[in-house]
Amino acid sequence: MFKSLFSRLVGTYFVIILVTIIVLGILLSAFFEDFIFARRAEELKREAIDLNPYVEMFAMGLLDEWHLYNYFKIADRYKNTTIWIVDEMGYIWLSYSSSPEEMEKWKEQQLTAKEFMQVIKGQTIVKEGKFDERFPIPVLTVGVPFKIDGKIRGGIFLHSPVEEIKSTTEETYKNIWLAAAISAVLSIVLLFFTSKHISKPLIEMNQISRDFAKGNFEKRVEINTKDEIGQLAINFNAMADSLENIENMRRSFVTNVSHELRSPLTSIRGYIQGVLDRTIPPDKSDKYLSIALDETKRLNKLINELLDLSQIESGQFPLNIITFDINELIRRVLISQEERITAKSIDVIVDFQEQYYYVEGDRDRIQQVLYNLIDNAIKFNPEKGTLMIKTWNYEDRIFIKVEDSGPGIPKEEIVHIWERFYQVDKSRSPKSGGTGLGLSIVKKILEEHDQDIWINSKEGEGTAFIFSLFAAN
Ligand SMILES: Nc1ncnc2c1ncn2[C@@H]1O[C@H](COP(=O)(O)OP(=O)(O)OP(=O)(O)O)[C@@H](O)[C@H]1O
Ligand SMILES: [Mg+2]
Repeated sequence: MFKSLFSRLVGTYFVIILVTIIVLGILLSAFFEDFIFARRAEELKREAIDLNPYVEMFAMGLLDEWHLYNYFKIADRYKNTTIWIVDEMGYIWLSYSSSPEEMEKWKEQQLTAKEFMQVIKGQTIVKEGKFDERFPIPVLTVGVPFKIDGKIRGGIFLHSPVEEIKSTTEETYKNIWLAAAISAVLSIVLLFFTSKHISKPLIEMNQISRDFAKGNFEKRVEINTKDEIGQLAINFNAMADSLENIENMRRSFVTNVSHELRSPLTSIRGYIQGVLDRTIPPDKSDKYLSIALDETKRLNKLINELLDLSQIESGQFPLNIITFDINELIRRVLISQEERITAKSIDVIVDFQEQYYYVEGDRDRIQQVLYNLIDNAIKFNPEKGTLMIKTWNYEDRIFIKVEDSGPGIPKEEIVHIWERFYQVDKSRSPKSGGTGLGLSIVKKILEEHDQDIWINSKEGEGTAFIFSLFAAN
């Protein structure tokens, strides 16, 4: 059966509280009873000792019976105490009880109990039960030696009914259990709210995670505590943020890809259709077909770049780290672009601080980084612009700078250029035929190498990209 956390918390706490209160109640009552009996015994002992001088005076004829019984009465204080004055032989010489019949009953009886022997020997005794089997009900008995002139002449015994003593504790028991009941009720109310408070964020997370499963990442958990559950809620919300981000990225990625694929396809179809149905005159068909060809090249490039990106991201193709000379690689990329560079009369300045810079990295991927940066620099450079490439060494790294004298990138756009498909104001940039994937690939490759890339760009002056690689030892 499904049991909610809330009911389990309430149930467990309830049992714990109930058990604690019952155990506490029982222990308290037991301790209290012991305490009350001990106190009553003390009291009886004191009274017995206090009675000794009066009985002594009576024995010597200095006090009459009426006065003596008055002292007995005072000692009793309406607690139904039975008092015996016993002689050396164990015969009850004087007895007192609150009821007159009782008083007579004990006269001249002889005690044989071992407690009597102890008292005669000078000890004080305390006993609970039917003393010497003489009482029909249990009594608390205290016996002290009775002395005349400092010599033991018998014993003074005081018996107090246990029932009587217990009746005084009952009131206290009632109070103890009442307090227990009140605290139980209070703690149940408290634990109800605490359990609600503890389980609320968990219930909320549970509900929200169901929404996540359905692809709805909007909701967040309210965070009220700083404990583990609060931490969990913070992490849960962070996870929701990143899921939402990924989902948004995925959506915009699909939208961008479809858009990027659709527009060249539409124009290719238009040109071929025009050539076929002769809307484009035959003498111009070559020109339009070559535009269509360019578009197919662009599509090809786009698809290759997308494949590269997904390959890097999937982690299926781990980096093939080798040691190579970065200066050599730069030269190769520049040579491969020679045609475009001369076509635009770009002035290329190469500044290698040392002839060889051996670095560690995946050569093919770093070649792609260089290609993408140099491609941008050529593309965005004006006619007769300059392309400067510099390499230098600092501590354990080699730094590579690719700088152009192009239009630069507006400050507010710089944060976005690493995003996929992002292109700075398409209408302003020269018709590059690009797709906006080049820099995101650069960033991904360098991230995989645990390296950084910085950008330094001023509108109207040019752009410089600087990235680092580990120098080979
Ligand atoms: N050297 C640069 N000078 C000026 N703007 C640049 C430079 N490099 C990049 N940008 C801006 O950043 C945008 C993104 O660059 P990125 O290389 O990712 O895409 P792209 O060059 O347009 O397309 P692709 O590289 O996929 O062919 C470019 O469209 C451009 O607006
Ligand atoms: Mg590019």
